[in-house]
Amino acid sequence: MEWVWLSIFTNICLAVFIPWADDNPFVGLETPQDKKEVLPPLIPPSELDNSSRSLKKKGQIPEYVIDNCPLVYLYSEEKYWPSDIAEYVTHFDIKDAQGNNVTDPLEALTLQNLQQDYYYTLANGTHTNISSDDTFLTSRDDFDIDPKWLLGSRPEYGTGHIKNGPAVLVVMDKGNGWVDAFWFYFYPFNLGPYIMGYGPWGNHVGDWEHSLVRFYQGKPKYIWMSAHGGGSAYRFEAVEKFKKLRRRNGKLTPEIVQRPIIFSARGTHANYASAGQHAHDVPFFFMPLSDFTDRGPMWDPSMNYYAYVFDGEKIIPSSDREKTIGISWLYFNGHWGDRKLPWNDSRQRWCPVQWRYIDGPTGPLNKNLPRISLCPHFAWWNFWRGCPARRLIKKGEGLDAEKNDLIGDNCGILLYRVRPRWLRSLFRIVTWRGVLCFIMDYFTG
Ligand SMILES: *[C@@H]1O[C@H](CO)[C@@H](O)[C@H](O)[C@H]1NC(C)=O
Ligand SMILES: *[C@@H]1O[C@H](CO)[C@@H](O)[C@H](O)[C@H]1NC(C)=O
Ligand SMILES: *[C@@H]1O[C@H](CO)[C@@H](O)[C@H](O)[C@H]1NC(C)=O
Ligand SMILES: *[C@@H]1O[C@H](CO)[C@@H](O)[C@H](O)[C@H]1NC(C)=O
Ligand SMILES: *[C@@H]1O[C@H](CO)[C@@H](O)[C@H](O)[C@H]1NC(C)=O
Repeated sequence: MEWVWLSIFTNICLAVFIPWADDNPFVGLETPQDKKEVLPPLIPPSELDNSSRSLKKKGQIPEYVIDNCPLVYLYSEEKYWPSDIAEYVTHFDIKDAQGNNVTDPLEALTLQNLQQDYYYTLANGTHTNISSDDTFLTSRDDFDIDPKWLLGSRPEYGTGHIKNGPAVLVVMDKGNGWVDAFWFYFYPFNLGPYIMGYGPWGNHVGDWEHSLVRFYQGKPKYIWMSAHGGGSAYRFEAVEKFKKLRRRNGKLTPEIVQRPIIFSARGTHANYASAGQHAHDVPFFFMPLSDFTDRGPMWDPSMNYYAYVFDGEKIIPSSDREKTIGISWLYFNGHWGDRKLPWNDSRQRWCPVQWRYIDGPTGPLNKNLPRISLCPHFAWWNFWRGCPARRLIKKGEGLDAEKNDLIGDNCGILLYRVRPRWLRSLFRIVTWRGVLCFIMDYFTG
């Protein structure tokens, strides 16, 4: 047992002393005045009043929200591209968990049919009201054979416009000058990961991902991006930017804006701040569950989106386009895709951690939008409910990774500076393949 303690001790020594003993590669990257800046607290939307409100004009989408809309690099070999929810729902019926018809399967579904509660007739003739919580958009086609609507549409080359794939923007006032811009990205299908060549596992029909850009007095301060129920938070200045011409009411102006970049992973559409391989199981143990991102087609969601202002209760559509499709679909608490297939369905498979087809996800308003933290919720081990915004982007690993500089990786400053490589590998093992790095990275990233 002694070597364990020795290893822990060595690790702590390495973790604690090396960064300070060495040249600090981060000198100059931080802006000193940033540290001194003390910003006022955010206010939960339910507690806002006229004096603390940041958005004075009711229902207004500020221009800075559009100027800082993230650009999304989709994966180069992606098969399931974004799509339009208004078109998507026409391929579905709404059923309850027992498979009863909630909506009439003889009529085409529209977004107006998605609502908070349903009054429907059970098989035995009883009429009843149910909440949408336990309902499922249930595909009329066999989704296992990739009907065309399941594939979505690629962005147009050059502009990044997806004509049949509007993003969904929800703006929330967080008081004291703070404003949150939630960008939702909808894909008709989530293709899960392969584990050691087998899979894919955890597939589902319908896939909602989102990012949050948090502004203080019109200046972007933070960005958060979703990945597998969790996500990652960054200071806005940390993420990569792309120069674009500013648009005003759909028209290009000669002004240049620096837009943040996020990367959408192959199949799962989980969002990351860099290209490469991203482990999303227990940190770096074996990396069997990985996401892959690269610089595939670039999607510009600011060219086509449905926009709303939400105050925690009421939703205000931003234009006639949103009024036409109605807002009831935002209150729909059901699943945006089929229920997990039963075990005896020929399309279903099981592996020790996951089914092949699982339940479709819930929609945008189920993502804790009134949150004060950047994170929507916390993992069980995160009992102190921390959600630190990283100062440096987390680099991807593997073949697609772009190792043009060495900073910012987990253990990056520690391990990447270790040479020769065999010694670095040794250190990786000594740090339990990076578990200690992960913990350190969590607090220092
Ligand atoms: C807040 O402002 C609105 C319009 O600007 C006004 O109608 C309302 O009475 C004000 N509420 C309070 C509590 O002052
Ligand atoms: C749902 O409605 C369709 C068409 O009316 C009918 O054929 C089917 O049996 C119904 N399903 C259930 C579970 O009631
Ligand atoms: C019909 O089924 C529901 C739920 O299974 C039950 O609560 C209700 O009592 C039944 N109604 C009749 C008339 O049997
Ligand atoms: C169902 O809800 C409607 C309106 O929300 C209400 O008028 C009706 O009485 C309810 N019916 C039952 C059986 O609860
Ligand atoms: C699967 O099993 C259920 C009972 O558990 C049965 O009702 C159903 O018919 C079965 N389906 C198939 C496709 O065998």
